[in-house]
Amino acid sequence: MKKMISLLLVCVMAFSFTACGNSAETEEADTAEVAVTEETTEEAETEEATAEEVATDGTITVGVVQTNANESDWRTANTKSFNEAFAEAGFEIKMVFGEGDHAKQISQAQQLIQEEVDYLVVLGLQSAGWEDVAKAAKEAGIPFIMADRKLELSEDLYTAMVCSDFEAEGVKAVDWLKTQELDAAKIVVLGGDTGSSAQLGRSKAIEDGAAANGWEIVFNQNMKGWDETLAKQAVADLIASGTEFNVIYAENDNMARGACDAMDAAGITYGKDGDVTVIAFDANKWALEYVLEGKFNLDVECNPLHGPRIVELINSLEAGEVVEQNAYVDEEMFDCDTITQEIVDARSY
Ligand code: AHR
Repeated sequence: MKKMISLLLVCVMAFSFTACGNSAETEEADTAEVAVTEETTEEAETEEATAEEVATDGTITVGVVQTNANESDWRTANTKSFNEAFAEAGFEIKMVFGEGDHAKQISQAQQLIQEEVDYLVVLGLQSAGWEDVAKAAKEAGIPFIMADRKLELSEDLYTAMVCSDFEAEGVKAVDWLKTQELDAAKIVVLGGDTGSSAQLGRSKAIEDGAAANGWEIVFNQNMKGWDETLAKQAVADLIASGTEFNVIYAENDNMARGACDAMDAAGITYGKDGDVTVIAFDANKWALEYVLEGKFNLDVECNPLHGPRIVELINSLEAGEVVEQNAYVDEEMFDCDTITQEIVDARSY
C-alpha cells in the first residue's frame, strides 16, 4: 500500500513539476517533495524487503491445539513426539492446551488463525463443534489438519487427518474377548473423556459387542480427563457395593492400572491367572510390562507418535503433492499369552 502511495506521489509531482515551469521556487519545493517521496518509497521498499525476508526465511509455523498437558502417559508421549519431530524439521511450533475445556480449545484455535500460522493441527477434546474454526481456517488459507482424534467435519473443511480408528480398536478387543469364552461376561466399562472420538469409538465397540454376544455391562461411566484416580475410586466403590464383575474394559492404560490398584486393595485377583480379565488401550511401554507380567490380559495399541507423520504431511503439502485426506494409523494389540520381552524392549514410548 505504501508503495502505491509513493508511486502516485511521484506521478503527481512529475506532473506538477512540468505544469509549474522551471522557476527557482518551484524547483526547490518540488525537490523537497520529490525527496520526501523518495524517502517514502525507500521506506516502503525497506519494509517490503523486510517482509519478504520474513517470508523467504522459510520457517514454517504450525499451531497445535492439544488436549491436556498431563492427561495421560499417552498424551505425554504424543506431545513429546510433536515437539521433537517439529524441532528436527525446523518448524516453529505454537502448542496450546485446552485443559479439559472445549470452549477454550475453540478460542485458542481462533487465536492461532489470527496469528496467521501456516498450518493448524487440532487434537479435539470433543469431536463435535469445530465447523466455525475449520471455516475460519479455510477463509484464512490455513490448512486444517486433524491428528489423533477425528473430528465431525465435512471433507471440504479439512485438509487431512492422521487419526486412530477408535471403534476398530474396540472391535479388536471385543473379538479377542470372544475367544476367551467366558461363561457369563459381566463387564465394567471405564470410559475416557465424554464426547471425545476416542471414547465414542471404544465405547460403541464394547456396547455393540455386549449386545451381540449376550454380555452384561454392569457399569459404564466415563472418567473426566481419563483420570486414573477416578477410575480406581469407581472400581473401589463397585467392589464395596458388592457388584459382581469379571471383565475390566478400561479405555486407556492409566485407568486400567487404577482398576488394578482397587482390586489389589480388595484382594481380588485379575489378569492371566486371575478372576477378572483386564483389557486396556494405548500400549504404553510400562503397560506392556503389565501384560508381560500377566496383570493386563490385553492391551490394544493407540499409537501417539504423530509428530513425524504430521511433518511428512506438511512437507508433502509444501511440495505441492497430493496427500491422502484420511489416513488411519496402523495399530497392533498385545495379549499376555503371546507378548515377549523383546516386544516390550522395542517400544519407544
Ligand atoms: O486420543 C487418544 C486417547 O487420549 C488415549 O487413548 C488416551 O490415553 C489419551 O488421553
